[in-house]
Amino acid sequence: MILFLLGLRILKVVNALVSPDGTGRLPAMGWNSWNEYACDISEDVFVRVADLMVHLGLKDLGYQYVNIDDCWSVKGATRDNVTQRIIPDPVKFPGGIRHVAEEMHARGLKLGIYGDAALGTQTCGGYPGSLGYEEVDAAAWSEWKVDYLKYDNCNIPQEWVDVPYMYPDNGGRPDGPVPPGYDWSTSNSSARYNRMRDALLAQNRTIQYSLCIWGHANVAAWGNATGHSWRMYSDIYPAWAGARQGSQALMPILNQAAFYWNVSGFWGRNDWDMLEVGNGNLTLEENRSHFALWAALKSPLIIGTKLDAISPEILAVLKAEEIIAFNQDPVYGAGAMPYRWDGVGNDTHPADYWAGSSSRGVHVFLLNTEEVERDMELVFGEIPGLQEQQPSVRRGPYLVHDMWTGKDIGVFSDSAVLRVKRHDTAAVRITTAN
Ligand code: GLA
Repeated sequence: MILFLLGLRILKVVNALVSPDGTGRLPAMGWNSWNEYACDISEDVFVRVADLMVHLGLKDLGYQYVNIDDCWSVKGATRDNVTQRIIPDPVKFPGGIRHVAEEMHARGLKLGIYGDAALGTQTCGGYPGSLGYEEVDAAAWSEWKVDYLKYDNCNIPQEWVDVPYMYPDNGGRPDGPVPPGYDWSTSNSSARYNRMRDALLAQNRTIQYSLCIWGHANVAAWGNATGHSWRMYSDIYPAWAGARQGSQALMPILNQAAFYWNVSGFWGRNDWDMLEVGNGNLTLEENRSHFALWAALKSPLIIGTKLDAISPEILAVLKAEEIIAFNQDPVYGAGAMPYRWDGVGNDTHPADYWAGSSSRGVHVFLLNTEEVERDMELVFGEIPGLQEQQPSVRRGPYLVHDMWTGKDIGVFSDSAVLRVKRHDTAAVRITTAN
């Protein structure tokens, strides 16, 4: 029995997917093609990205997954007549997916692929879905040496639809049933995603499993038993506030996250969608806030920008070592919690002050949602974790350290005032001063 268990790559232990090599214990870090390339992808794109991840020092900081998103296969309901497998697009991927995986592995990186829990023809982009073909597809991905699966939620057949429970809705379709006793772990959505989980677990390969389920069917309540991360909201787009064709800007997503701060931990976490750092017209301060807060939430850190000709300022944001260290802390699995609202707490002015503990101290993220630079106040007595959790930082005076610059700001007794630019986020670490 023990030998049998040791042979397994990932074990479903109580309510989490645990693997001996640690895959999925911490938030995934990597790069994904969707936000900047959409369907305009090819083997060349991924190999070039892989080279740049090494060359720019991103790999050394922990970014390791290079993830293919939608549109990698032959479009429509096309599967191989004999094997029933999805067919990689021969123009975009002339060497097949396995060849791309080998290129990644040769650089010390890993490869991710994309699928959709839908029937027949329909990923979100209209490529073959995997519902009913879970074993076939998981076996193919495993044989192709894929290391990560993002599994999407478009075009669900009516008999598999649930009441969505939370935005976005079912795209105009009638809602499905609510599960008995409102136990969402028995919902249709949970069943669809568990089928792929079981197919992946049956492979002789460790594949990180990322549920792209947009918060549907209250996934926060059961995602941990199914995958390593679960998308909590609609697609992100690179703007500070507002919504566009069902996609949400940064502040609405953060406001949503404020209500789910206590869900994430080791082996499973909320996914607030891939990073838009470097995209659209986000200012440098907005890019900094985006990165710092997604890291603070312990969301996966999946870069979504073009790496060729990336500006030094944007690269520096993605390489902010101490911010990454908070996200990847080996001792504290929980994300930061909101603890102070200077505004009302809405889609324009979500929580301003977030705090979380790491093995290095207590960290506070101070977000300025106002349109002007302003003073923000660190009041030590109100910071969660500072008083209760860590004996080493229980008593003041406190040393306040800037996680962006890596420099100490100063020693303070009761409070400190920090000047924060419009839409910027100050990120500090607090420890006892002596
Ligand atoms: C959905 C997902 C996105 C992306 C697209 C691809 O919208 O939420 O992240 O994968 O599909 O079509």
